[in-house]
Amino acid sequence: MAMVIEARGLSKHYGETVAVDSLDLEVPAGALYGLLGPNGSGKSTTIRMLTGQTPASAGTATVLGVDAAADPVGVRRLVGIIPEQETPPSFLTAAEYLRFAGAVRGLDGIEEAAAWWFEFLDFGDKKDVLCKDLSRGTRQKLMFAQAFLHSPRLALIDEPLVNFDPIVQHDVKEFLVDYVRRGNTIFLSTHILEVAEEVCTGFAILHRGRLLATGTPDELREAGRHLPDVFLELVRQDRNHV
Ligand SMILES: Nc1ncnc2c1ncn2[C@@H]1O[C@H](COP(=O)(O)OP(=O)(O)OP(=O)(O)O)[C@@H](O)[C@H]1O
Ligand SMILES: [Mg+2]
Repeated sequence: MAMVIEARGLSKHYGETVAVDSLDLEVPAGALYGLLGPNGSGKSTTIRMLTGQTPASAGTATVLGVDAAADPVGVRRLVGIIPEQETPPSFLTAAEYLRFAGAVRGLDGIEEAAAWWFEFLDFGDKKDVLCKDLSRGTRQKLMFAQAFLHSPRLALIDEPLVNFDPIVQHDVKEFLVDYVRRGNTIFLSTHILEVAEEVCTGFAILHRGRLLATGTPDELREAGRHLPDVFLELVRQDRNHV
């Protein structure tokens, strides 16, 4: 099976801190893959290495066949990204920002694509408001839209559902499921384990930069287990080990 993401021994050190510790990961095409883990376990650092936003200290990462260390710009050209805690530029309106994001991607039909997103995410008259004056959730909607505007084959999205109201969460979840059904791949980090259990085709649990487990929600269902319980159990066990 074609792997869209392949990481081998991927590591990141910040001084004495080992943020990611020799991670091996394979994500097949068409997966909706959830990267799970407590605060500080290395999820965002992993995503930043896979997207060439930060160089690895050791190991390799190949994303859509491109080496993330050798050609980070090449990776970013191909994928969609929602970086952690980033917000759209304060000095652009929502519509200007999507126009800008589409232009950077060399997208044809930017206006149509943007109009679809504004309709889907129920922007109403907010599309002509400066980003700095949008609510937090609305800014997050914009970050979501820019990641998918050019219909990337792979999107790496860090906590994409944070700050969304229940209706948007519902619609966006359906979008994600449909997006991978159309043959694309999504790699997402999330703390919302119920959502991961519901929509993911595969997951990895990170703790202290190391992989505790990988699996699929189907396997858990067959074993009569729930992802939140398994997560708590594994992380607590690992904490008690050290
Ligand atoms: N730029 C940085 N400089 C120094 N240390 C960093 C940096 N970025 C991350 N770290 C450290 O790396 C570790 C992993 O952080 P990371 O942000 O990847 O965790 P996370 O799993 O995304 O956590 P959260 O769930 O809180 O978003 C933490 O110990 C963090 O303090
Ligand atoms: Mg994070």
